[in-house]
Amino acid sequence: MKKYLVIGNPIAHSLSPKLHNNWLKQNNIDAKYEKTKLDTEEIESLINDIRQKKIAGCNVTVPFKKKVIPYLDELSLEAEQTKSVNTITFDGNNLVGHNTDIFGFTKAIENLDFSIKDKNVFILGAGGVVPSIIYALKKMNVSQIIISNRTKQKAEDLNALFENLKVVEWGKLPDFDVIINATSIGLNDEIINLDFSKSGKNKLFYDVIYNPSETHFLKTGRELGNKIENGKTMFVYQASEAFKLWHGISPKINTETLNLLKND
Ligand code: ATR
Repeated sequence: MKKYLVIGNPIAHSLSPKLHNNWLKQNNIDAKYEKTKLDTEEIESLINDIRQKKIAGCNVTVPFKKKVIPYLDELSLEAEQTKSVNTITFDGNNLVGHNTDIFGFTKAIENLDFSIKDKNVFILGAGGVVPSIIYALKKMNVSQIIISNRTKQKAEDLNALFENLKVVEWGKLPDFDVIINATSIGLNDEIINLDFSKSGKNKLFYDVIYNPSETHFLKTGRELGNKIENGKTMFVYQASEAFKLWHGISPKINTETLNLLKND
């Protein structure tokens, strides 16, 4: 039986196995999908397992999306431009790194009743998923991308990679139409120390976190009269695109799929 994996650290809470195993069953594919916690030193041996076909394909999550790149033979254009790989395929004799987070974020925004074109977007955080979000936002022709991160250098590094971003100090709140929380603040009920009460309403508050389904950030956004969205749809669509790369089938996404991820 073919085996697929998601690697990361931590990985215990990953819901990828639930989603992929459900789709495998739905499509009568004789394969299984598991999760494995890795240390950085173990990446090379894991990659060798893919070359030897012990593993048929792999998803990559925090903190390895960049670290896997040196071990691969080829990158998709999107993985190359974001320096971020979340899906590995073995095509012929080539290990290829793909980035399906971009597709996931784009579909999540397109599914909303909110036009993002020409909007001012403020991103909080500069971690693993942010290059993909910036790439997607640029493709969607937003007007400006402003970024703020506790460790300012990481925001500056993203500005060097993408150009024309505006970097603001952590703790400052510029004018925005869309605000994205891409930090891990809120995973454990923490509060982002910014006062949104004078930012106006009818904006979009987007949180990459989907568990809890409504972080303090989203609750505040909603109570102030804004549209809110969590990261669940992005997560499901990035997974569906990985599934398509491996199995050549776009899996069904419906209420049942979304219910699989209900855990709070
Ligand atoms: P990684 O940084 O390994 O890619 P991540 O989960 O993708 O991990 O990113 C975590 C993000 O949340 C980072 O932007 C981090 O800021 P730093 O770069 O300064 O570490 C941010 N973050 C986490 N906890 C935070 C906190 N208490 N206050 C502000 N930002 C925080």
